[in-house]
Amino acid sequence: MNAVRELMKVFITRRIPEEGMKILSGATGVCEVSQWDSDEPVPRAELLKRVQGAHGLLCLLSDKIDAEVLDAAGPNLKVISTMSVGFDHLALDEIKKRGIRIGYTPDVLTDATAELTVALLLATARRLPEGVEEVKTGGWSSWKPLWLCGYGLSGSTVGVIGLGRIGMAIAQRLLPFGVKRLLYTGRTAKAHAAEVNGEFVPLDTLVSESDFIVVSCSLTPETQGLCDEAFFSKMKKTAVFINSSRGAVVNQEDLYEALKSGQIAAAGLDVTTPEPLPTNHPLLTLKNCVVLPHIGSATYSTRGVMSALTVQNLLGGLQGLDMPSELRL
Ligand code: NDP
Ligand code: DGY
Repeated sequence: MNAVRELMKVFITRRIPEEGMKILSGATGVCEVSQWDSDEPVPRAELLKRVQGAHGLLCLLSDKIDAEVLDAAGPNLKVISTMSVGFDHLALDEIKKRGIRIGYTPDVLTDATAELTVALLLATARRLPEGVEEVKTGGWSSWKPLWLCGYGLSGSTVGVIGLGRIGMAIAQRLLPFGVKRLLYTGRTAKAHAAEVNGEFVPLDTLVSESDFIVVSCSLTPETQGLCDEAFFSKMKKTAVFINSSRGAVVNQEDLYEALKSGQIAAAGLDVTTPEPLPTNHPLLTLKNCVVLPHIGSATYSTRGVMSALTVQNLLGGLQGLDMPSELRL
């Protein structure tokens, strides 16, 4: 008589798009799933409880997966699959030490995130939220030569911090606006930069020569707090700062001072610290700061594909098979 194989346990920390759930329900005989059935984050205590004994964990960027969570999960845990390309919420050293595999979602969200970053740049530089507000509140009295002027991309210098997948896709989208020079920084020069005539320059050169600075690097110990007082003080007074990477790359107190004092022209942020940004945060009092709620990858189709890829990674990791997008540690 065949022994009945025990199902592996999976914990999913949130509701995710149905594309992923369908794949999971088709994988009969592999795992039993428990899910935090909400659009809001799982409370930490609940995560620590529900992860116990799990073989697989499907998480989001808002779940901090550290030694405490890994200890709570125990020795069964084989795979952590995050529905994000960023992995700064995962304690990589601890995960590696325990031999746990990681799945993530590069590439599939590159276009959506680049598109949103360009939208944010244009909205910030051309003051769209201010304009919309003026129309609604009766501030629009006439066509006025000096009113609501901003900055255009034509003939400008754009500096991209981190010319990776998303940085490159942003550069490709910005060039047709008539950008004259495309500067970038990173740890190493990139062969693909030639496609956008990218010039690899030291950070200081990028900061002082750019009319638009776009941050699209990953959050690491080296990039944490990279954009601080010294950084903003080197920027042109007419320059626009855009961040769609992670909030912690920016020192927000220093950014506030730079915007308030007119040291820089404007900032557009898709990411902040913390998230959500409290509604009484000083940055939200500034007209020259546009803040979005971390929606870079938020198109229906992109989130569907991310969900499917996250589940495929999870299933591959559970069964000891290839994962379509494994983060190699
Ligand atoms: P990639 O790994 O392709 O690119 C990351 C880039 O960061 C690389 O070019 C790397 O350059 C650069 N980088 C690393 N360290 C430094 C440094 N010290 N100084 C300057 N650049 C550095 O990742 P993606 O482009 O796919 O994603 C980038 C990030 O975007 C993610 O990590 C995530 O945080 C964020 N993101 C945000 C989204 C949103 O909704 N707003 C959506 C998706 C992603 P090098 O190789 O030379 O080190
Ligand atoms: C990521 O994937 O890292 C983004 O921040 C959300 O899509």
